[in-house]
Amino acid sequence: MLFKFPNAEKSPGDYMHEGILYCGHCKTPKSCRIEGIPALLPIFCKCSKESYQRMDEEMKRQRELAKIEKLKQGLHGAIYHKFVFEKDVRPDSNASLVSRGYVSNWEKMKEGNIGIMFSGDVGTGKTFYAACIANEIIEKYKNSVLMISVSEIINADISVKDELFEKISAVSLLILDDVGAERRTSYGYEQFENIINLRDLSGKPLVITTNLSIAEIRKPPDIAYSRAYDRIDRMCPQKLVLTGTSFRKRIAEQKRRKAMEILGEDCI
Ligand SMILES: Nc1ncnc2c1ncn2[C@@H]1O[C@H](COP(=O)(O)OP(=O)(O)OP(=O)(O)O)[C@@H](O)[C@H]1O
Ligand SMILES: [Mg+2]
Ligand SMILES: [Zn+2]
Repeated sequence: MLFKFPNAEKSPGDYMHEGILYCGHCKTPKSCRIEGIPALLPIFCKCSKESYQRMDEEMKRQRELAKIEKLKQGLHGAIYHKFVFEKDVRPDSNASLVSRGYVSNWEKMKEGNIGIMFSGDVGTGKTFYAACIANEIIEKYKNSVLMISVSEIINADISVKDELFEKISAVSLLILDDVGAERRTSYGYEQFENIINLRDLSGKPLVITTNLSIAEIRKPPDIAYSRAYDRIDRMCPQKLVLTGTSFRKRIAEQKRRKAMEILGEDCI
């Protein structure tokens, strides 16, 4: 609570009644007497108490917003910030229901170290739902999240890599976007295995998005990946396979139609 001494000065409208100073605004005492002390002692009248409470609440709100703002820096990609459940156009889909359920039961998921694997073809909404989870966990629980693509970690400058690796074990939720899309070099593989090992040792949940199928995770064509993928399989027991036409194709088609409306059919 923001502390400020009460003011027993007489302001316009204040009045004296039976030797006590009253607030002219809320008509409650601004002073009191204590036996043995000749002077009037200042106290908070009702309206100044309420005004300090409002200020205190506003400061708390600002602190919360600043905390959320800071936590959102853990989402490495401007697009991730835009994906929220309010924009979900498939709220009845299994992926949506499971994603929302995951957030509602976050404390239990965290305790049980339960993660999700979103797999499926391009543009089907894997990153969308993973980012919805990230945003909601930050907003609702004020927990730390690192959402980042595997390639970004592998290609990160050495000056930021240490910090990223620290976060990989420290954050409450790690979301690795586009697992399997990174360049397959021996350095890349070594880094990837480090990321998965570190996270596994942290005992905290991992969510991934990938174009790989569940079968490919269980039996990778590139045998070098078996150990890391085997851990992912265990760390992400909830498997969601997204199907259907690519959202991107649909968005492109909508844009094409819009352009046709504006420019006329012959121009497209
Ligand atoms: N449930 C949804 N509600 C609204 N828009 C969506 C939804 N799912 C996806 N989109 C839109 O479709 C686009 C593609 O989705 P997203 O990036 O999640 O695909 P993806 O499955 O991760 O694809 P990729 O395999 O290429 O990474 C997004 O930019 C988003 O605008
Ligand atoms: Mg994606
Ligand atoms: Zn008052």
